[in-house]
Amino acid sequence: MPTPITRSAFVDGTVLSNQRLSERLYALRINLALQPFRAGQFVRLQLPVGDDKVAKSYSLVNAPDDPVAEIFFNTVPDGRLSNALAALQAGDLIEVSQPANGFFVLDELPQKPELWLVATGTGLGPYLSMLRTAAIWQQFERVVLVHGVAVRAERVYQEIIQPALAEHPEKLQSISCVTQEDNPDGFQGRVTSALSSGWLEQHTGLTLSSEKSAVMLCGNHAMINDMKALLKERDMKKHLRHKAGNIVTEQYF
Ligand SMILES: Cc1cc2nc3c(=O)[nH]c(=O)nc-3n(C[C@H](O)[C@H](O)[C@H](O)COP(=O)(O)OP(=O)(O)OC[C@H]3O[C@@H](n4cnc5c(N)ncnc54)[C@H](O)[C@@H]3O)c2cc1C
Ligand SMILES: NC(=O)c1ccc[n+]([C@@H]2O[C@H](COP(=O)([O-])OP(=O)(O)OC[C@H]3O[C@@H](n4cnc5c(N)ncnc54)[C@H](OP(=O)(O)O)[C@@H]3O)[C@@H](O)[C@H]2O)c1
Repeated sequence: MPTPITRSAFVDGTVLSNQRLSERLYALRINLALQPFRAGQFVRLQLPVGDDKVAKSYSLVNAPDDPVAEIFFNTVPDGRLSNALAALQAGDLIEVSQPANGFFVLDELPQKPELWLVATGTGLGPYLSMLRTAAIWQQFERVVLVHGVAVRAERVYQEIIQPALAEHPEKLQSISCVTQEDNPDGFQGRVTSALSSGWLEQHTGLTLSSEKSAVMLCGNHAMINDMKALLKERDMKKHLRHKAGNIVTEQYF
């Protein structure tokens, strides 16, 4: 079903918890009257910072049937909102836009049997919500999650990923790509190197092709551009509603 375009307004939410996952990663849980959303969509969070109010977009990590909004974010050096978010404590108020928006959702993907979910950093967030839907397992024969991070401690949310792997052993594979440390459990290097070196396809036993693959890319713009260039060599292009392709993207910064 096409994703409708919605107008959003801020509503008040109350922080339930703000868990520090690593040196600069946090999981923020917010109680609010959460309206229905599709896995992969984002809300805007707004807080007073100095004399201003600052609002920025953040993907929802929780499953669509979970009434508590969860945000996975990292602090950015001198970042205005991310550092204010990191200081939040249980009981604090925060404004959240409702309903959620965005087209980075399963319904907007081309009809292909194999889905590649590629993220760098907090770009993992939308996929955590998707992995907790029934739809992803109905829509795809195979799903490969590829997460690129700087250090091993940032391979977070294993408590969501490992049960999904155990529940769908024939369908789901999860791969970490760690750039600044050794990574005995996955690939050592960028997600782009995992693809261009042939490691990714060899390791998964799957081939990325315009016939079989739908690819979601989420994270920084450089990764998205570099991945798109590699996929273009395989005749894989951006997927549009009026022109079928393979790739959909969500650029965080
Ligand atoms: C649709 C959408 C969804 C997003 N979802 C998330 C999310 O789920 N989690 C999340 O952490 N961020 C997410 N972002 C990024 C987020 O909106 C903010 O840009 C980020 O938190 C920085 O805000 P700030 O005010 O602290 O930084 P600013 O003071 O605005 O500084 C901006 C600078 O910080 C850097 N930067 C911005 N975002 C990031 C980032 N995530 N990681 C590293 N460096 C960054 C860039 O170099 C940018 O120029 C999303 C952005 C978009 C557009
Ligand atoms: N990660 C940290 O601990 C940390 C701490 C403080 C500041 N920073 C800075 O903050 C900014 C954001 O860092 P981030 O870790 O939040 O997000 P990020 O830059 O998106 O990095 C996350 C992962 O994506 C990789 N990556 C970056 N560009 C890529 C590309 N073009 N193709 C494929 N993979 C790519 C990074 O590899 P590389 O490591 O090879 O870049 C890293 O493994 C960066 O400028 C970073 O230097 C990072």
